[in-house]
Amino acid sequence: MKILLTGGAGFIGSHTAVELVKAGHEPVIVDNLYNSSKKALERLKMITGKDIAFYEADVCDPAAMDDIFAKENFDAVIHFAGYKAVPESVTKSVAYYRNNLDTTLTLCECMQKHGVKRIVFSSSATVYGPIEESPLVETMPSAGCTNPYAWTKYMNEQILRDAAISNPDWSVALLRYFNPIGAHESGLIGENPKGIPNNLMPYVTQVAVGRLPHLNINGTDFPTPDGTGVRDYIHVVDLAKGHVAACNYLEANAGVCEVINLGTGTGYSVLDVVNTFERVNHLELNKVMAPRRPGDMASYYSDPSKAKELLGWQTEKTLDDMCRDSWNWQKNNPEGYDS
Ligand code: UFG
Repeated sequence: MKILLTGGAGFIGSHTAVELVKAGHEPVIVDNLYNSSKKALERLKMITGKDIAFYEADVCDPAAMDDIFAKENFDAVIHFAGYKAVPESVTKSVAYYRNNLDTTLTLCECMQKHGVKRIVFSSSATVYGPIEESPLVETMPSAGCTNPYAWTKYMNEQILRDAAISNPDWSVALLRYFNPIGAHESGLIGENPKGIPNNLMPYVTQVAVGRLPHLNINGTDFPTPDGTGVRDYIHVVDLAKGHVAACNYLEANAGVCEVINLGTGTGYSVLDVVNTFERVNHLELNKVMAPRRPGDMASYYSDPSKAKELLGWQTEKTLDDMCRDSWNWQKNNPEGYDS
């Protein structure tokens, strides 16, 4: 299939482009490079040996998107494009709602006009809200969201559920990611956050490479085995393969609209991640025990059985792989794509 990847130059999008090529599909990337780099596209060519079509455009721009849809004959869309920093979403809430909802609405209009009937949406486990009873199952109602970023994911899911009802021949997959980390094993593409990272793994790798002085272990008094927060870390290559499986599922099942968790089903604590990172990479991190971040949950992990049942997909990589590949990317690219 020819598949549009909005935000395809970003962390998850670029890894998905690789896996789509490997599976015999033809990805076409649209990205405004707001939070990504053209270098990722050069690296994609090095990995795949293919010139992946690229349009530098904003998915909120209806005229630009209409032109692209008219020119390409897409069989499916994977919608990654969006603002994604939780703390920033609190201070720039209007911009987050405008961008993250406009992109989806523009895409839906283009799909209707140009007869594209399949869409995979990059949602997040955060839409479950503050629930302290993992594993999280797709049938659980949301407990509400705790920040504008999370609400945009929640609202986009609703927009797409309703679009699936208005367009009964569409098939829709709402993929709820848990905590994506790791990088392609080549070390050529990886996570490249702007400014100081918000998330654990890019923070760990930037401490390891000497860009940041120490890692804060945020919260050591959670009701978890070692007192630190537990999350469901998933290797980005496994996550990317989940998107390939979702596209194949939508092709074979016209008319479906499904919410699907993409996680491993196993929770690891912050100390599990830090200790594994130090062990597999033979280094020691400068760490400081610090207070909890406001709003953090003790434990948050998936029940991934629906993905296995519907998509025939499950994760293959271990926490060792995730820690090794994250470091391989960062040590080869100390300043990310600006190295
Ligand atoms: N943590 C630290 N130190 C840091 C950063 C994080 O100890 O410097 C801890 C956190 O307290 C938490 C764990 O590492 O226990 C994971 O934190 P992340 O910020 O990496 O991930 P979260 O689970 O908090 O957030 C992620 C995504 C969000 C999404 C959320 C819920 O980053 O986009 O999952 O799905 F909204």
